[in-house]
Amino acid sequence: MSGNARTSREKWGGNIGFILAAAGSAVGLGNVWRFPFITGQNGGGAFVLVYLLCVLLIGLPIMICETTVGRWAQSDPIGAFGKIEPTPGRRTRTVAVLLFLSAAALLVCRHYGQGAILMILSLTLAVRGWRIIGYFSALVPLVILSYYGTVGGWTIAYFFKGLAHSLNFTTTEGAAEVFHSVEAIPGVSVSYQLGFMSLCAVTIWFGVRQGIELVSKLLLPLLFLLLVVLIIRSVTLPNSGEGIRFLLYPDFGKLSAEGILLAMGHAFFSLSVGLGLLTAYGSYLDADKNILTNSLIIVTLDTGIALLSGLVIFPALFSVGMPIDQGPKLVFQIMPIIFNSIGGSFGWFWSSSFFLLLTIAALTSGISLLEVTVCCLVDHFHFKRRSATVLAAAVISAIGVLCSISFDDWSRLPALQRAITFLFGGAKGSMFDMADKLSSSYLLPIGGLVISLFIGWGWGTDNVVRQLPAHPAAADTPEPSLAARLFWGIAIRVVAPAAIIIVFLHTIGWL
Ligand code: PHE
Repeated sequence: MSGNARTSREKWGGNIGFILAAAGSAVGLGNVWRFPFITGQNGGGAFVLVYLLCVLLIGLPIMICETTVGRWAQSDPIGAFGKIEPTPGRRTRTVAVLLFLSAAALLVCRHYGQGAILMILSLTLAVRGWRIIGYFSALVPLVILSYYGTVGGWTIAYFFKGLAHSLNFTTTEGAAEVFHSVEAIPGVSVSYQLGFMSLCAVTIWFGVRQGIELVSKLLLPLLFLLLVVLIIRSVTLPNSGEGIRFLLYPDFGKLSAEGILLAMGHAFFSLSVGLGLLTAYGSYLDADKNILTNSLIIVTLDTGIALLSGLVIFPALFSVGMPIDQGPKLVFQIMPIIFNSIGGSFGWFWSSSFFLLLTIAALTSGISLLEVTVCCLVDHFHFKRRSATVLAAAVISAIGVLCSISFDDWSRLPALQRAITFLFGGAKGSMFDMADKLSSSYLLPIGGLVISLFIGWGWGTDNVVRQLPAHPAAADTPEPSLAARLFWGIAIRVVAPAAIIIVFLHTIGWL
């Protein structure tokens, strides 16, 4: 079953290829769209500081776990986690029984949806063991990419609108009207979403080296260039110093408990950890690469680009005197107004550059999400890469269409709304909202928790630490020092899971 049977597993062409592909996955809408608006809503510098701590204490250790397991097993996430414990042991069966009992309790209390899901999980765990983490890796992209593709489609639409001088509004009413014309007309939003998904699928079709690696090598430098040009424009505006100060000066008085927890959830989303994506990417990595150095570089790139995006957005907002707490519409509605007011007749140029930046960021992340599912289909279910690509892209696009047509509310999907209300006791927001909330508040933290617990306590942190350097199996590779084993041991076994449990209890409202 595992990928070991395949002698010619495709590999990254080089270290830079892996780093850029993983950074491409991490750098996405989370950095340029979500990070600035949640920073704006949570008081600036102090929030940024807490976010940085979460990235180092939770995100980095889980990233390392995921990558080491992938490289060690040389297999898709299903095969990799299955290789650690091929048949469910006593502890695994105990967890399965506990889950089964909780499922029964939920069903008795008429929480049918939650109960059924937990029941399926408990049975899968009892029969297939911790391969369950791999099944999770294959399925979670179906949820994330369905709504991510919708937003990805909007970025493409806005890029073209920028070029066509159609983002020349100067009022919030004008901005809302244009946004509505993209988001609320099904023909328009679905076409762009399908366009976005096709670009992801074409890349995956060409494979690891000719597809993902090549596209990342071309697009990430372009993203960086666009970012630098936009920063120069933004920080040279009158009054821009106030925006820089807002981003960098930590005023702890403005930080709430909610902000701390939000920062933790965002660390998962932004680093693309919690769903085993880096297990798939790590499986294409050769033994001569150092995982610790690579992970540090990826984390630095992701965090650096989030901060640089803040340097584009906040100085411009403060300079023009726009509100900083506009939430998700900040990027689509407020930024074009700013570009028009600072750019004069060149407003279209700044808007289209900005939305090209956003499109690139979304695309490289979308590609990585599609790749995890395709990797599982190819290795575990023996599909050909191309048929796996078409199948995964078609299923994700179909779910994505539902998200696209229901961004505002459920009015176009009444039957689905009734079914979800029956199963889960309610259907808040829209299908789009549900997919967004489900993935960043529930699926990624739960995935991260299970991975850190299973790797930390099941596989053992010494195995992880031994895999960190290049050539881990070579006879002359020194044993890791006690300090390194202690440090990573505590980070993976205790700090990361404890922090995730706190985030999770908060998101379900128990804290
Ligand atoms: N990290 C991506 C972003 O910041 C989103 C993502 C999450 C991609 C999970 C892959 C997996 O936008």
